Amino acid sequence: MEVIRTREAFREAMVEARAAGRGVGFVPTLGFLHDGHRSLMARAREEADLVAVSIFVNPLQFGPAEDVAAYPRDLDRDLGICEKEGVDAVFAPDADEMYPGGPPEVTVDPGPVGNRLEGASRPGHFRGVSTVVAKLLGIVGPCRAYFGEKDAQQLFIVLRMVRDLDLPAEIVGCPTVRERDGLALSSRNTYLSAEERRAATCLYEALARAAWLVEGGERDARVLRAELARRIGAEPLAALDYVAVVDEDTFEEVDRLRGPARALVAARVGPARLIDNLLLRPSD
Ligand code: PAF
Repeated sequence: MEVIRTREAFREAMVEARAAGRGVGFVPTLGFLHDGHRSLMARAREEADLVAVSIFVNPLQFGPAEDVAAYPRDLDRDLGICEKEGVDAVFAPDADEMYPGGPPEVTVDPGPVGNRLEGASRPGHFRGVSTVVAKLLGIVGPCRAYFGEKDAQQLFIVLRMVRDLDLPAEIVGCPTVRERDGLALSSRNTYLSAEERRAATCLYEALARAAWLVEGGERDARVLRAELARRIGAEPLAALDYVAVVDEDTFEEVDRLRGPARALVAARVGPARLIDNLLLRPSD
């Protein structure tokens, strides 16, 4: 497995791979890898000839109130995981390599969806994500790129950006990986104490309850939002940020379910801000 530090060397490696007829599967990450990332790598391994992973804690997507320096990092452990997953190349630049001369003057506008939900709670977050993803895809070149559905709003914006800007990548959304009790895997779970870890299951429990109500015929999104908020609000260690039920195709809030919709929740549990979501499929 090759560990690459510069944009130029990474670009060259990807160009060479394609010239040799090898299709590239690309998994962008912030590092501190877990089984969710492993599932993205495994999917890329199945579908591509060469698997490349980027490990870069992108300062642009952290707001002024968020401590980018405190984001968990362990490059040696991450490289071990990549090696085990059969990754061919890891791109691990530092911030000066990615943004020589400081933050870029030209950035990518994530569109109106970028200002809602996560975007409202974390102003500038999706501009930072869109910019770094566009930059990474520009370096990698034509590829299939793998993103988790756990960050459903991010996945929606990346799909939209690739479509609207004609970027030469095929974006593949992959299912959320969960602990046995339903908690979605996240690097942020490492911040939780044992008691907070138990409390954190309220996010998935609320989403599962909403899905159960939909299976039972509930179509009023206001009822579903109220139930999501009630369930999370009942957990004393969780501070609710938002609940939402959005149309799967537009990410607009809906009043009634008339097709596939997505329930989304965000809450602070102890020191960690956690998000999760679940697809709601009305049978009619
Ligand atoms: O989801 C993430 O890990 C990050 O937002 C991404 C896509 C790697 C961009 O920094």
